[in-house]
Amino acid sequence: MIERAGEFYQQMRTRRTVRDFADRSIPMQVIEHAIATAGTAPSGANKQPWHFAVTADPQVKAQLRHAAEREEREFYARRATKEWLDALAPLGTDANKPFLETAPVLIGVFMQKSSTDEDGQRYKNYYPMESVGIACGLLIASLHLAGLATLTHTPSPMGFMNEIFARPPNEKPYLLLVVGYPAENCRLPDIERKSSKQILSTVP
Ligand SMILES: Cc1cc2nc3c(=O)[nH]c(=O)nc-3n(C[C@H](O)[C@H](O)[C@H](O)COP(=O)(O)O)c2cc1C
Repeated sequence: MIERAGEFYQQMRTRRTVRDFADRSIPMQVIEHAIATAGTAPSGANKQPWHFAVTADPQVKAQLRHAAEREEREFYARRATKEWLDALAPLGTDANKPFLETAPVLIGVFMQKSSTDEDGQRYKNYYPMESVGIACGLLIASLHLAGLATLTHTPSPMGFMNEIFARPPNEKPYLLLVVGYPAENCRLPDIERKSSKQILSTVP
């Protein structure tokens, strides 16, 4: 048990967010397995309030890039506070999102605040935010263990995702996951993770 938990940690600690992707396709079955894994997440009252919309289509990816960059230009120029921009500075991000076209696959993650049953009756979902967050963690872990890189992208706001991914209005765009192989010359920001001591406490 201890060994397995230790091994899983060793595998997961090598995950990094990549922002420079190779233009190389990936097997769609990997994506299907990863999304099935995400669907095993626990959820409030077992409502499973998530949807994963996938595209590998160059035209759809171009549309997503165009819409995301429009919002991001507005974000970097006007909406972001100085504190937010300072926090982003070490990551070297800006309003240009070429990876939305270069990466082979984009997964639009949607959160269902409410859903409709087979009789057309609307019902409420409980803790959708927490549930979808856990599902995304499993999705990212699965893709990482399969040998792929991801970027958790949150263009702000993300309303354009409903139209481009043809999702209904009860679904709130949660994030846009960029999936692929890192570019050959890909560089990563030199950032640190908190130690176990910092994030773990025991009582008493
Ligand atoms: C909810 C969330 C939103 C994020 N949004 C963005 C984003 O829009 N653009 C980006 O470049 N990185 C984004 N990131 C990636 C973080 O910057 C990254 O996870 C963090 O710097 C730690 O680096 P690591 O993932 O390599 O450990 C996001 C991460 C999370 C969890």
